[in-house]
Amino acid sequence: MIRFGILSDPHITIPETLQDYPGRSHFLEVSIPAINQALEALQSENIDFLMIPGDLTQNGERTNHAWLVDKLNSLPYPTYLIPGNHDAHAWVSNHEWSGLKHFPNIYKNFGYEENQLYYAAEVAPNIHLIGLNSNQFINGRRYVVGAIDDDQYRWLEAKLKKLDGSLVMVMVHHNILEHVPLQARHPMLKAYIIEKRKRLVHLLRAHGVELVFTGHFHMQDIAEHRGLYDITTGSLVSYPHPYRICEIDEKKVRIKSYQVTSLEQWPDLHTVSLERMKSLSDVYMIKLLTSPPLSISLEKAKQFAPQLRFFWPKIAEGNAYFSLPDFPLSIQMFFAQFNDCPPDDNNVVLSLHNPMKSYLS
Ligand SMILES: [Fe+2]
Ligand SMILES: [Fe+2]
Repeated sequence: MIRFGILSDPHITIPETLQDYPGRSHFLEVSIPAINQALEALQSENIDFLMIPGDLTQNGERTNHAWLVDKLNSLPYPTYLIPGNHDAHAWVSNHEWSGLKHFPNIYKNFGYEENQLYYAAEVAPNIHLIGLNSNQFINGRRYVVGAIDDDQYRWLEAKLKKLDGSLVMVMVHHNILEHVPLQARHPMLKAYIIEKRKRLVHLLRAHGVELVFTGHFHMQDIAEHRGLYDITTGSLVSYPHPYRICEIDEKKVRIKSYQVTSLEQWPDLHTVSLERMKSLSDVYMIKLLTSPPLSISLEKAKQFAPQLRFFWPKIAEGNAYFSLPDFPLSIQMFFAQFNDCPPDDNNVVLSLHNPMKSYLS
């Protein structure tokens, strides 16, 4: 049996690096106390290792990376992590920021062995974790969409061939399966999913990979497609401030989720954070309502948006269900698509199916 913790998108922001601006959605003021509380709780849970699928820092600041490295080095278990888009503002470093190029060097004790942005680590006997990089730069310029480059695909295919017969889990920042309807096509949502994701899905499925851990979306959701799971974990700086513990025993995967609900400085963190998310919601809801397929008028969208402030928090919590009998039928039908179906997004036992493998025997 292996037991590991997952926390995602901690967006570490030490006070000296905190920048405020109108509409900032991340509750960065709690990044340090929230991760401290989650790490403390995980320490008492006797985990074998910790996974962090990206957005380690808010803006790739050297000081924030240094804070996290120190913190993770103090833990009694190893951590495996990958970069998120927030860790990849530039390719090369300057005096203030660390460029993505130097990420493997900063985190060489956390999965990376060579100066390469992707790795495979044996996290337990015959159990391997592959960390991918979904942040790309073309001719030094940032490619804003999540993507896997050809060199990485070649490496991944060779690695998966080598690891056939082992349990292989994958961690990548951007989602690989849709967690909400239209995620891969909707202009507001496609930034959260890997471009040309089917290539990655086919490759992983061809080699019997069943468990993929992602972040980026700041939502609790488990999506499944033909035996492949994309388990995305919400952010520690967004409501409901979740983290998970995952146990793999024989062919069962038990996932339990927890939340940071209260901190010394924010005793009512959950209430404050929920209200914060709701108060920032109107601008997104107006955009969602006026975009295809709904395409309703701006005037009507402004009227409906305040009544839909519960939408993002419900999605972020996982297991969302929407019933909007007082809304026009088109809006009712649109939001009904977001009703979650099994598996449960927070507490669930999943079955691994691949009969070719006999790991953990
Ligand atoms: Fe994030
Ligand atoms: Fe992200």
